[in-house]
Amino acid sequence: MQEPVNLDDVMTLGEMDPGGMLAAVEDFPRQCAEALNLGREAPELPDAEGISRVAFVGMGGSAIGGDILRALLEDVVGMPMSVHRSYRLPSLLGPDTLAVFVSYSGNTEETLSALDDAIYLGCRVLVLTTGGKLLERARANRYPAVVIPGGLQPRAALGYLSLTAAAAMERMGLIQGFVRVAHGMAESLRAKGEEWGRLSPLEKNFAKQLALRLRGKIPVIYGVEGMLAVAAYRWKCQFNENSKVPAFHHALPEMNHNEIVGWHVLDEYSRKVEAIFLAEEDDASRVAKRVEITADLLREKVGGVTVLRVGGDTRTERLFSAVHLGDFVSAYLALLNGVDPTPVEVITLLKERMAAEG
Ligand code: F6R
Repeated sequence: MQEPVNLDDVMTLGEMDPGGMLAAVEDFPRQCAEALNLGREAPELPDAEGISRVAFVGMGGSAIGGDILRALLEDVVGMPMSVHRSYRLPSLLGPDTLAVFVSYSGNTEETLSALDDAIYLGCRVLVLTTGGKLLERARANRYPAVVIPGGLQPRAALGYLSLTAAAAMERMGLIQGFVRVAHGMAESLRAKGEEWGRLSPLEKNFAKQLALRLRGKIPVIYGVEGMLAVAAYRWKCQFNENSKVPAFHHALPEMNHNEIVGWHVLDEYSRKVEAIFLAEEDDASRVAKRVEITADLLREKVGGVTVLRVGGDTRTERLFSAVHLGDFVSAYLALLNGVDPTPVEVITLLKERMAAEG
């Protein structure tokens, strides 16, 4: 492996990141605060009367915001929340469903196709996008749409793609008190950003240290079921899209019943893996015990094990700080790998080829 870039050399980091992914990650706390205001000030929203379920519809970076909101809000909302990543919607959705259609570009074909089903099923649609065909179709059908700022990669717009929808739901009366908690979270992320940002030197910067540890390895992220399993999936996708490496994820306790056995035979490959566990600080549950024991057992099998215990005053703070750390680590790993974190050429190519097929 060639000598990696010095992660404290901010000039070189800037040159290697022409699309500004690291800057977008550093700007995330501000984006979160703006996203909450956008949702709160949305000019029109669907009528909340009679809504008994919420469905988020989208793909990739636009869909994970739905997973986050589901993990944080389903219990407090007291109604089922689901996330749909496909061309079709299940027929159990209907007029009692708030269907939040999320596509950053507004041109994702699966999401546009699912909109036909939502129309047919009579769902109450809310659109979140920067424009594209989704906005055109929202306007043609007189569906409320919240237009979010463009110019980012969808995965770098996670604040808009999650919190704007949550703030809109709060204005509709479906949830209470979340916007205040989320503003507190955005404030606490600022401090984390200073700790993990480019100006914080390697010896004090855990995000840079972990990125260095991951050089030449395949990250496999295990999150405790619920919100940290969502964070694990976000980490995996960010390693794929920003760092351009294979990465995998699973959740505890389920992986204790299958995947844990799989690190047994292909020693040479298993040694290339860094297993990263995402757990909560002060968690005294049985699952937390499993994290400790599983990490111990895997130490003999894989190339390295990192156990992260996320802290924070609220669940929202814990989940977003886990996500934010992964965003930093994946951007630094891209720069260590000598790749531009921003473009996702193969996704663009695939979308073009699908469009050409008609
Ligand atoms: C790119 C990214 C992708 C897109 C996905 C759907 O940064 O994260 O996963 O989010 O291809 O596209 P949009 O978000 O435009 O609907």
